[in-house]
Amino acid sequence: MPLTIALDGPVGAGKSSVAEETARRLGILHLDTGAMYRAMGLQTLRLGIDLTDEEAVSRMAESLRVDVRYTQGAQQTLVEGEDVSGLIRTPEVSMAASTVARYARVRQVMVDLQRRLASEQSMLVDGRDIGTRVLPQASLKVFLTASAEERARRRFLELQAKGLPDTYEQVLEELKKRDDQDMHRAVDPLRPAEDARMLDSTSLSFEEVVDTLVAWAREVSP
Ligand code: DC
Repeated sequence: MPLTIALDGPVGAGKSSVAEETARRLGILHLDTGAMYRAMGLQTLRLGIDLTDEEAVSRMAESLRVDVRYTQGAQQTLVEGEDVSGLIRTPEVSMAASTVARYARVRQVMVDLQRRLASEQSMLVDGRDIGTRVLPQASLKVFLTASAEERARRRFLELQAKGLPDTYEQVLEELKKRDDQDMHRAVDPLRPAEDARMLDSTSLSFEEVVDTLVAWAREVSP
C-alpha cells in the first residue's frame, strides 16, 4: 500500500513549499493539485471561455488532457502536452483556477486523475479537498493554516521576488476573496476533515512546519 498524506489548507498557508520539502525528506513524490486547477484556469482564459459559463468550462475540462510529470522529483503540469508550470503562477490564473474549481464536473475530472496518481505510488498530496474527498483513506491528514495577514505577507514577498507589482493590500484582498470562494462553494468546499490534524503555522518557521509533518508521517508509516 502506498503511503498517502493529505495536506489541505487555505491560500498561502505555505502548503506547496512545505509539501515539497517534506516529500523530499520522506523520499516520496509531492502532488500539487492546485497546479492542476490552475492549468484548467489558464486554458479557460486562453480559449476566451467565460469563466462563469459552467457548461462551457465543464465541457472544456472533460475534453482537455492535463498530465503531471516528474523530472528529478519536481512536478511539471502539462496541458495537451505543453508544460505550463511557468505560466500558472499569476494572480489572474489563481482567481480563474478558484472560479473553475467551483464546478462539479471540473472537480470530477481532477479528482479521478489525482486518485489514479496517488494509487500508483506513495505521495504527499496538497490541495483543498484531499482529506475530505480525494483521499478520505489517507494515512495522514493535515490541515495547515495561518492568519490571513501572515499568509498575505508571505504571498506578497513571493510575488515581489518575482517582480510582480501587486501591493500587500491587493494581495490580502485577493486572498480573502479566493478563500471565501473556496470555502463557500457547493461542491467539496475547503474544510478540515474530521480526523485531520490541525497545524497553525502563523508563528512557526518553515523548518518547524516541515519537522512536524515529517514526524507525523513517520508515526503513521508502516
Ligand atoms: O493551491 P492553489 O492556490 O495553487 O490552488 C488554486 C485554486 O485551485 C484554489 O484557489 C482552489 C482550487 N483548488 C481546489 O479547489 N481544490 C484543490 N484540491 C486544489 C486547488
